[in-house]
Amino acid sequence: MSGQKILLVTGGTGLLGKGLEETLPAGWRVVSVHQRDYAVKGSPARHLVLDIRDKRAVDRLFARRRFDAVVHAAGIASVDYVETHYAESLESNIVGTLNVTSACRRADAPLVYISTNAVFDGRKAPYREDDPVAPVNKYGRLKVECERLVRETLQKWTIARPILMYGWNHAETRQNPATWIYEKLRRGEPVSLADDQWENPLYSHQCGRALWAVVRKAPGGIFHLAGRDRVSRHRFGLTLAEVFGLDASLIKPAAARSFPGLAPRPPDTTFVTTRMERELGVKPLTVREGLAAMKADLSAGA
Ligand SMILES: NC(=O)c1ccc[n+]([C@@H]2O[C@H](COP(=O)([O-])OP(=O)(O)OC[C@H]3O[C@@H](n4cnc5c(N)ncnc54)[C@H](OP(=O)(O)O)[C@@H]3O)[C@@H](O)[C@H]2O)c1
Repeated sequence: MSGQKILLVTGGTGLLGKGLEETLPAGWRVVSVHQRDYAVKGSPARHLVLDIRDKRAVDRLFARRRFDAVVHAAGIASVDYVETHYAESLESNIVGTLNVTSACRRADAPLVYISTNAVFDGRKAPYREDDPVAPVNKYGRLKVECERLVRETLQKWTIARPILMYGWNHAETRQNPATWIYEKLRRGEPVSLADDQWENPLYSHQCGRALWAVVRKAPGGIFHLAGRDRVSRHRFGLTLAEVFGLDASLIKPAAARSFPGLAPRPPDTTFVTTRMERELGVKPLTVREGLAAMKADLSAGA
């Protein structure tokens, strides 16, 4: 193991963390922490159970090991859950981020903070990294606050903002649009999908590749990570049905406002990916390419 660098990933069992593990480059190994007590099978990383809200536990982790870089992705990432469980989300996302940033500062470890497209109001797409933020929901406001905390308290930081991600998630963690639509169509159930909200969705492996480039280059600043195609969720579902050979007639278009009880969403957060392409050397995939890669993983039994 000597000579290998160590990346700490917080929230490593989420879709983003899984994408990082599945694109692990030579010369690196991953220590990954998550909150709930379950074992992670078939992973190249060392997984530990640790609550980032617990400052003493975070400090102990950093005292035991030296990390060459940290990707901080842990927290409550469901927009609707944050809207209705705000106090809990403040602890997880703000207190947790404060604990991780303060440990990084003392250990002089470079941090990659994982933010989101939800920092924008969705009225002036496509968005570049230096466009002004204006979140429309509580999740977006927490992420803006965390970005500020990272920028103002650390010297060695990069902020990566992935857009809506899709890919195969761990069984224990939440689904994403691709796995949710796939399961519904396989069961022969009808699916209503919004046809009036747009973004350029990101395949989790492409997110992993972009983040590894950030980890290795430590470029600093903000990076938008996204795919090539600007699509509505409805168009995404139709492409998925086609790629996986499922029944597209089960998919119906719907207005976003027709889904009751959801937090407000920005209508169009499509990202400009020039920085990702030029500085990280990562090509944005079309939705069809990303879904075809998922299908190939399924066929390979991954
Ligand atoms: N998914 C997307 O489309 C998307 C888009 C833009 C930005 N992001 C951002 O990307 C990051 C990762 O998202 P994701 O979709 O991969 O997340 P996810 O699937 O919801 O997983 C969340 C991860 O955080 C861990 N976690 C939550 N609270 C924790 C705590 N208090 N202490 C330690 N670990 C904790 C969870 O552990 P357990 O499994 O033990 O609960 C899990 O590993 C988040 O910061 C999210 O805001 C995601």
